[in-house]
Amino acid sequence: MIFDVMTLFPEMIDYCMHESVIGRAVKKGIITVNCFNIRDYSTDRHRHVDDYPYGGGAGMVMQPGPIYDCYADIMAGKETKPRVVYLTPQGRIFDQPLANELAREEEIIFLCGHYEGVDERILEEIVTDNVSIGDYVLTGGEMPAMIMIDAIARQVEGVLGSSESAANDSFQDGLLEYPQYTRPEEFHGMRVPDVLLSGHHGNIDLWRRRQSLKRTLERRPDLLEKVRQSGGLSAEDRELLAGLQEEVPGSGQ
Ligand code: ADE
Repeated sequence: MIFDVMTLFPEMIDYCMHESVIGRAVKKGIITVNCFNIRDYSTDRHRHVDDYPYGGGAGMVMQPGPIYDCYADIMAGKETKPRVVYLTPQGRIFDQPLANELAREEEIIFLCGHYEGVDERILEEIVTDNVSIGDYVLTGGEMPAMIMIDAIARQVEGVLGSSESAANDSFQDGLLEYPQYTRPEEFHGMRVPDVLLSGHHGNIDLWRRRQSLKRTLERRPDLLEKVRQSGGLSAEDRELLAGLQEEVPGSGQ
């Protein structure tokens, strides 16, 4: 899978894309991250890429020309137009279903904005998806792009090792993941739950499902409601939840 990132700060992206799980996937050639410096497409002798906003007001606005030329360079020789994601707090909120959907694309282009914004005309012309990573404002689109690339790439076949399956992740079935433990068996007086040491896989699976439901009920009741409404709870889940109503304060219904 190919990620093309149009940015004013390619070093920010480059650094992260060569570390850890994503770095390993890049080395293996499973994913490619191409960074394009929008400033390289400035036609100004001072390499400016921004200008004052028409109508006045604070801050600078990124000009459409350099972004278009950068985009045209990425598109040269391509027969189909990849989705072009503009990172903006005005976009659709990024979540696991969107990460899964985008992981099925062969190539995605990201446009990272800066300053007070980007000239609306270039957004109208090239952008297919406006995406926000949350209801807060950041100084630029680079970190949101990196977050999206990370979440999308780990859904791509071969990026996670066989021991790092994405199937049990929080959010994959709409619920939060159960708690995990490793050695030692006792730490600061706290013991690993006995069931996990029992070797009884049926009991372990049941305990984990119950913990997953409990966590979601305690921490993200909104998510649990969504799963309930979409029919994602089995009869066994509903029974487990009924038993949890007393354990989780304020969850009774
Ligand atoms: N750029 C600035 N803030 C952002 C956000 N919350 N999500 C995506 N891009 C952004």
